[in-house]
Amino acid sequence: MENPFKFGSIVEDEFFTDRVQETEYICNYLQSRNHLVLISPRRFGKSSLVLKAVKKANRPYIQLNLQRVTSIADFAAKLLREIYNTHTWTKIKDQVMRFRVIPTITTNQVTGAIEVGFQPTQDQRVLLEDVFALMENAHTESDRLVVILDEFQEIRAISPVLEKTLRAIMQEQKHINYILLGSQESMMTDIFENVQSPFYHFGGLMRLKKLPREEFEEYLRTRFEPVFHAQAADLTQQVLDYTQCHPYYTQELAFYMWQVGMWEKKKENVKQTAIREIIDAYDLSYERIWMNFNRTDMWVLQRLAAHAELQTGEYRTSTIYSALKRLQHAGHVIYTDRFELEDPFFGEWLVAKH
Ligand SMILES: Nc1ncnc2c1ncn2[C@@H]1O[C@H](COP(=O)(O)OP(=O)(O)O)[C@@H](O)[C@H]1O
Ligand SMILES: [Mg+2]
Repeated sequence: MENPFKFGSIVEDEFFTDRVQETEYICNYLQSRNHLVLISPRRFGKSSLVLKAVKKANRPYIQLNLQRVTSIADFAAKLLREIYNTHTWTKIKDQVMRFRVIPTITTNQVTGAIEVGFQPTQDQRVLLEDVFALMENAHTESDRLVVILDEFQEIRAISPVLEKTLRAIMQEQKHINYILLGSQESMMTDIFENVQSPFYHFGGLMRLKKLPREEFEEYLRTRFEPVFHAQAADLTQQVLDYTQCHPYYTQELAFYMWQVGMWEKKKENVKQTAIREIIDAYDLSYERIWMNFNRTDMWVLQRLAAHAELQTGEYRTSTIYSALKRLQHAGHVIYTDRFELEDPFFGEWLVAKH
């Protein structure tokens, strides 16, 4: 039997549960001329959700993760590669031939993948303009392209002028719906909500929450049943109590519990056994992460891990607050209805070790 849980990359089909309303909402949104901005902490399921919605809407799309982009020229090249992979050559050929800087399109002899590059140029902006014009011109009002830019907050790290350049280019377009995803709450909010920012009110803002408990319950229980039988319902509750319905960590814990159920004779303390395996596996990387925190951050993380009060008088409220903000920015802490550790297993590791 194959393990029915999956964590890490994008989930589809039988690994994807619920998000019915959100999927519907995005599909409807794509029928309009508007752009969409989707924000949540990382690993809440943004990329999976958008992919599902775009496929359901049956629209042509290309996607690019800005975390993998190193410069403006690289941005243009990677986008062009995606266009090349999703459009027929006849459809784009004439325009590509008229690019101000001619791209080189080659096939990697080893992997067979398409590689796109541009000659070095002083003005990287023209590369972007040509590639974005190509996307626009290869489509029409009735056949609009969906362009998904993932981890969009990275735009600020790629180049300080990129935000303004991109906004100016996108402004003129009529044949594209943009979906911009981001997992750095504060930076994304600044990009789209700050009046000074080029992307101010660029599109509708959607914030993704954790998964609804009832839906996740059913998903877990039906997958646990063949292995745990009568224990399945109880174990399901234990998982969700522990992960608070966080999509990624729920799948991860369920995955390890399922392994325990399959391979170990004694099916006692399944959850604890699985958690121990997880924190053992991450021990080294947790240690490495831990060494880089300053003392205030360490203290805040320890208190959060122990579910303990932060206002003890030991640190000033403003100090605690800036530590929380800093940790949230770096992705170690998330805010739902309160501040909590992003990774519950890291919390477990902290409590066990310190
Ligand atoms: N709808 C869903 N149903 C089940 N698991 C999900 C769902 N959405 C996300 N997950 C879990 O979360 C993980 C991260 O999803 P992903 O789409 O990469 O999140 P994000 O783009 O927000 O970082 C997935 O690998 C999967 O384990
Ligand atoms: Mg993602």
